[in-house]
Amino acid sequence: MSYEIYDSIDELSNEDAFLLKQAGEATKNAYAPYSNFFVGAAARMGNGELVYGTNQENASYPAGICAERVLLSTASSLHPGIPIKTIAISYRSMDTPSDHPVAPCGICRQSLQEFRERVKLPIRLVLGGLTGNVYVIDDAALLMPFSFDGKELGGF
Ligand code: THU
Repeated sequence: MSYEIYDSIDELSNEDAFLLKQAGEATKNAYAPYSNFFVGAAARMGNGELVYGTNQENASYPAGICAERVLLSTASSLHPGIPIKTIAISYRSMDTPSDHPVAPCGICRQSLQEFRERVKLPIRLVLGGLTGNVYVIDDAALLMPFSFDGKELGGF
């Protein structure tokens, strides 16, 4: 797959830099007392609205949910049918430096893929820590080749 690598947030367009900073700010709303890994996601919707998500953990660990899926559920609930243009994802960790991008986990990739197929438009991803390199992926579908989707179940 191909993606763009930027040396820092300063090389991004104003729109992308703003969104990534918003994702970094959103990490403050994460609830991650077990992992101490605070993830923030910020999306620009097709209608210009901004939507946020943060990871929300639980003492029963599997009940926790990632920032990306919180964001997708929020976007779909507040703005049904509206595409997501770009999602920026950032993080802050108490144990490791936030100086490089992290990519969405496998379950979140599956959820991103479903959202993307529902509206049939690419979702751009801007991935970066609080400092360091930034990756831009033009379509979340690139992270999910050979995906299982609703076509198999008669959906779409
Ligand atoms: N996490 C996310 O929120 N997004 C990801 O893509 C990777 C992992 C969260 C889940 C958990 O609360 C913590 O980060 C450590 O895995």
